[in-house]
Amino acid sequence: MADLAILGGTPVRSAPYPAWPVFDERDIEAVTSVIRSGNWGGFPYPGPQSAAFADRFSQVQGGGYPVLMVNGTITIEVALRAAGIGWGDEVIVPAYTFQATAAAPMAAGAIPVLVDIDPDTYCLSPEAVEKAITPRTRAILPVHLGAQIADMDAILELAGKYDLVVVEDSAHAHGAKWRGFGAGTLGHFGSFSLQSSKILTTGEGGVLLCRTQALAEAAASIINCGRPADAEGQHYTMGANFRMAEIQAALGLAALERFPEQIRQRESLLGYAEECLSEVDGVRLLKHDPRHTTRSFYRFIFAIDPQVFGAAHRLVCQALRAEGIPAGAGYPPVHRDPLFQPWTSRLPVPSAFPEYFGFDRLSFPEAERAAEREAVWIDESVFRAGPQGIDDMAAAVCKVRENASALAGLAKGSGA
Ligand SMILES: Cc1ncc(COP(=O)(O)O)c(C=O)c1O
Repeated sequence: MADLAILGGTPVRSAPYPAWPVFDERDIEAVTSVIRSGNWGGFPYPGPQSAAFADRFSQVQGGGYPVLMVNGTITIEVALRAAGIGWGDEVIVPAYTFQATAAAPMAAGAIPVLVDIDPDTYCLSPEAVEKAITPRTRAILPVHLGAQIADMDAILELAGKYDLVVVEDSAHAHGAKWRGFGAGTLGHFGSFSLQSSKILTTGEGGVLLCRTQALAEAAASIINCGRPADAEGQHYTMGANFRMAEIQAALGLAALERFPEQIRQRESLLGYAEECLSEVDGVRLLKHDPRHTTRSFYRFIFAIDPQVFGAAHRLVCQALRAEGIPAGAGYPPVHRDPLFQPWTSRLPVPSAFPEYFGFDRLSFPEAERAAEREAVWIDESVFRAGPQGIDDMAAAVCKVRENASALAGLAKGSGA
């Protein structure tokens, strides 16, 4: 049995995986021409690059009225505000997500109400959502995590039944489809991050897809200092400058030219990766729901059994990285994130509603199991390296698994 690279052995893979973001002359020309135009920013709103990118993005994603913004956190806050959700309203958020999904409602004055996830998908559990609905609930914020889409049929049904707004956090799901419809076009809003690690990037940035033109106009006003769509000088609602810059939109247009081929490339190897890992003892693949018809994705996530691997996921990921595989343990559970502990109570929402913020006393067993012991997140770059990239990833997982006792020794030594 080969020694683990983390213990000084030879790594499975020494060649680096392809870098991200990808760029070519088109990006350089696009940015250069914006620089020469002198119209670099986002005002007057929208500039020509922004209008073109917004339009093209919604075509590629399959619908919605698009509004470009500075990032994929503001998009969530603005969606809630545009829907009239604010002070003291409850917004249901999964307990396993990036902190932004829970922080954005607070920025809008609303209370994030955490619920547990479905262990088969690591996305919001519809049963848990229904149990959490109260007369103060105004919105559901499903997150399409990693390579998954939350059960949108069940979530939309609940939204219809209880008259709730749905904001799909699609920061990981550009290009993904559910029953042939684009992620982010199923709810009232779809929020997309274009931050540099995302599979469509403008360096920083965000897109909000809105179900109606009226919602899009409300959102556009909030991000344009409160100006109405048709009168430049006036300010009629509480807003700020959250506009995307023309330089970023130009990068987005160039990125969209490469995007469909990148989706195809990653998706074509997803089934192969699942096949390679399906027989590995101690690996549990997440569910592929047949309603998830285009599997465009940001990270490929699977679960390990710490008993079988000799250690919890954090050390397993360290061992995989030593083997040359870009792997990470993902997010902490939201309720354990320092951001949401009692000392955040000087913030307006936790100060006013402390009864919701005993997060350290709350328990979401499935989110904790995923976030603290099981989840292994594999970078999308592995899927741009052809079948060899997948073979190396699978070989490294097998190698780490075969060396479970060595890993257990390491875990004991480090207290992990
Ligand atoms: C699930 C999720 N939601 C929201 C965001 C926030 O996006 P941004 O960093 O563009 O604000 C991210 C970004 O990492 C994310 O992963």
